[in-house]
Amino acid sequence: MGKEVAKLTLPGKEPIDLPVMKGTLGPDVIDIGALSKLDLFTYDPGFRSTASCESKITFIDGNKGLLLHRGYAIEQLAEQSDFLEVCYLLLFGELPTQSQKDKFVIKVKNHTMIHEQLIRFYSGFRRDAHPMAIMCGVVGALSAFYHDSLDIHNEEHREICAFRLIAKMPTLAAMCYKYSIGHPFVTPLNKMGYAENFLHMMFSVPSEELIPNPVLVRAMDRIFILHADHEQNASTSTVRLAGSSGANPFACIAAGIAALWGPAHGGANEAVLAMLQEIGNVANIPKYIAKAKDKDDNFRLMGFGHRVYKNFDPRATVMRKTCYEVLDELGVHDDPLFAIALKLEEIALKDPYFIEKKLYPNVDFYSGIILKAIGIPTNMFTVIFAIARTVGWIAHWNEMISSPDLSINRPRQLYTGPIIRDFVDVKKR
Ligand code: SDX
Repeated sequence: MGKEVAKLTLPGKEPIDLPVMKGTLGPDVIDIGALSKLDLFTYDPGFRSTASCESKITFIDGNKGLLLHRGYAIEQLAEQSDFLEVCYLLLFGELPTQSQKDKFVIKVKNHTMIHEQLIRFYSGFRRDAHPMAIMCGVVGALSAFYHDSLDIHNEEHREICAFRLIAKMPTLAAMCYKYSIGHPFVTPLNKMGYAENFLHMMFSVPSEELIPNPVLVRAMDRIFILHADHEQNASTSTVRLAGSSGANPFACIAAGIAALWGPAHGGANEAVLAMLQEIGNVANIPKYIAKAKDKDDNFRLMGFGHRVYKNFDPRATVMRKTCYEVLDELGVHDDPLFAIALKLEEIALKDPYFIEKKLYPNVDFYSGIILKAIGIPTNMFTVIFAIARTVGWIAHWNEMISSPDLSINRPRQLYTGPIIRDFVDVKKR
């Protein structure tokens, strides 16, 4: 069968044949490359109907609530795998053998420490600086430590970048928290697992070594898995766009952290907690549901809705289950915020507005409740998201840089500004 084409007919022009491309899963795409030669652009603010690239890493089906990482369903990975194994899968495309996994874990552990001169950057921030502001700064600063020796077209160099970023993010993140409370930084302990080491760096003090609760460690590791990657979301697209110019990968990841910070994206988990605290008790829920539906009120139910998921976010389902486990383990069955969250979800899912607009709880709706129960402060929630998403960002960056079709991403526009006009001297204005 010949190649499929989409025919574009414009007034006064010959019909244009545009090739239709098929993936292994998901919608077909129309290759519009030919339009640039005809001085024509497509127009799609927010990229609702735009495939920006070809990728083999993650697939999402918004109607079926499906999320696959290299073909493996997120539910199975969350239940049966661990975060570093998912990192290996996202980076290299296959689940590792035991020996591959052991070698990968050792390589990550060899990069958990931070250069002493980078540690000094923290003292330049106010103690009450938002940790995401600090993370933008210190991760960007990594590009000053790893630049001259870095050739992004060398596969080994790209691989060590991945190890450095995956390994250092928990250390840098925990340092943000310790700095905010005036505690000394805690050095990573490589005898610990990834999530265990993070909780150790967050909550250990020199006077008392902490052995993190294994149930909380498992919950933390699962939260990392659930946030690891998500196709071409805003922050991943930011990393790809920055990386397409050949910029230093550490600087590109810092750009991704900046994009993730927004409340419409990764900042939503922090905003969910603030919203639940503002609602205060179950009796106030109808008032906030009404605000969310009021066109004249820009209040939105944080943790609800998604650009792609129009049925349910499979990560939210796993997150809710993990919530029950953690609150059970900690004996906080009557956590008031969890009670409000469960009731809010129940009421919203029955409300015609939410049903019609296909608004369901997303990954951020429950994660904050678990993180708060673990003892992580609200302003660190998006930092946790950034730790996890770093592997997704670097996997997509690596896929783009190693592609033979690599070219700088440079979109065009619909211009509606003034037409050409002559300059007028200030005396005559
Ligand atoms: C993440 O892209 C990703 O994959 C992101 C992410 C990842 O892993 O990378 O999944 C992580 O960012 C999850 C989303 C976290 N954000 C929030 O929870 C913030 C609250 N949600 C919304 O801001 C919103 O739902 C978005 C930003 C998530 C999606 O916005 P869209 O796709 O642009 O949808 P929209 O804003 O056009 O909304 C469609 C309609 C609108 O009403 P109408 O103009 O059609 O009348 O639904 C309404 C919106 O007003 N709506 C909501 C709502 N979300 C959308 N109304 C009330 N509460 C909400 N949460």
